[in-house]
Amino acid sequence: MDHFLYRDGVLHAEDVPLPEIAASVGTPFYVYSAATLTRHFKLFQEALNWTDHLICFAIKSNSNLAVLKLLGDLGAGMDVVSGGEYRRARAAGVPGDRVVFSGVGKTREEITYVLENGIRQFNVESEPELEAISQIASKMGVTAPIALRVNPDVDAKTHEKIATGKSENKFGIPIAKARAVYALAAKLPGIDVVGVDVHIGSQLTDLEPFEAAFTKVRDLTLALREDGHDIRRLDLGGGLGIPYERSNSAPPLPIEYGQVIERALGDLGCEIEIEPGRLIAGNAGLLVTSVIHLKEGEGRDFLILDAAMNDLVRPSMYGAHHDIVPVIEPSPGTPSAPYDIVGPVCETGDTFAKARDMTPLAPGDLVAFRSAGAYGAVMSSEYNSRPLIPEVLVQGSEFALIRARPTFAEMLARDSIPEWL
Ligand code: LLP
Repeated sequence: MDHFLYRDGVLHAEDVPLPEIAASVGTPFYVYSAATLTRHFKLFQEALNWTDHLICFAIKSNSNLAVLKLLGDLGAGMDVVSGGEYRRARAAGVPGDRVVFSGVGKTREEITYVLENGIRQFNVESEPELEAISQIASKMGVTAPIALRVNPDVDAKTHEKIATGKSENKFGIPIAKARAVYALAAKLPGIDVVGVDVHIGSQLTDLEPFEAAFTKVRDLTLALREDGHDIRRLDLGGGLGIPYERSNSAPPLPIEYGQVIERALGDLGCEIEIEPGRLIAGNAGLLVTSVIHLKEGEGRDFLILDAAMNDLVRPSMYGAHHDIVPVIEPSPGTPSAPYDIVGPVCETGDTFAKARDMTPLAPGDLVAFRSAGAYGAVMSSEYNSRPLIPEVLVQGSEFALIRARPTFAEMLARDSIPEWL
């Protein structure tokens, strides 16, 4: 459930009509609902209330400081994958001991910065990385808390570009090798082994792969304890999917996911960490855009929007579906017709949907992409020198600009022409 509903025929974000925001910030823009973000975060809290836990929001899904502050104030930890994301977490007021650092390629600069400024745990993805963390920590005279990210070789049954838990993927340490790497970790100076980490992929719409992975984590945890390691924390990654197509999908609920965790791992007495991104932010955001032109093609009609693949890349990158709805609700029984819905970027790949049934629209009309709060703004670019679009946060009847659209002057000022040219 989200808080984007039609009221008196106009799509609202909570209590704010979208045309009011469009008039204030211009289109296209992203808008997030504070109530929806809060609700989704609390669903995970309820799902894990049987145990000690920390819900570490995956910043990669939505890194706006206002969103991070809202979640941080609710008690969220943060999952970061770069020095930039770490700085965002801290700038939003989240203490270092609630931040976990994941990712396959942490640089020495990043490791040093994070150790200087406080970290809950490194999720370590390889032996060379473990050795680098050990060297840096011992030189600084500190101890780095670590979990090893294991690759359980489980098929997450999701899009190939976002599956991470198969042995052919670049992520994690093969689970069969894990005991040996834990033995190494225990001997290295500056390292405190605190737990096990796993993340098998994103947009999972079936619980079975989670269950398979968590069962392997359970067996490993028991074996590691036998080997003398004090495994007290399990980080289970993110990945729970959301319904992108409201009409025909109903992925599992957080409460059911929590039950899978409890069944597989509940008796181990470990603190549970999870790293959800999409389920918290995805359906808490819309991309609102306006129609530039309607163009008749041969055998198809095009709806040309002022948003493009540089603003929301998921359809062209993953063939992802987003529901696209008019902001002014059509009256019941209004006939619809198929359109190819495209942006102005000079690539055929700049297509959001093909032959999508839409009710009649005219230039200037507003439409909204649903489920755009995760992996939307964060993946945007200025391709075709289109400025990054603004982000807006709504809470009740209030709204605020939380990232401004750069001016063209600001964009141009980032480049410089060498004096010898
Ligand atoms: N933890 C780790 C280590 C991850 O790599 C990810 C996502 C998450 C947590 C959060 O997963 P979530 O709960 O959001 O599914 N750009 C793609 C998604 C990439 C996901 C990458 N890793 C998309 O737009 O579908």
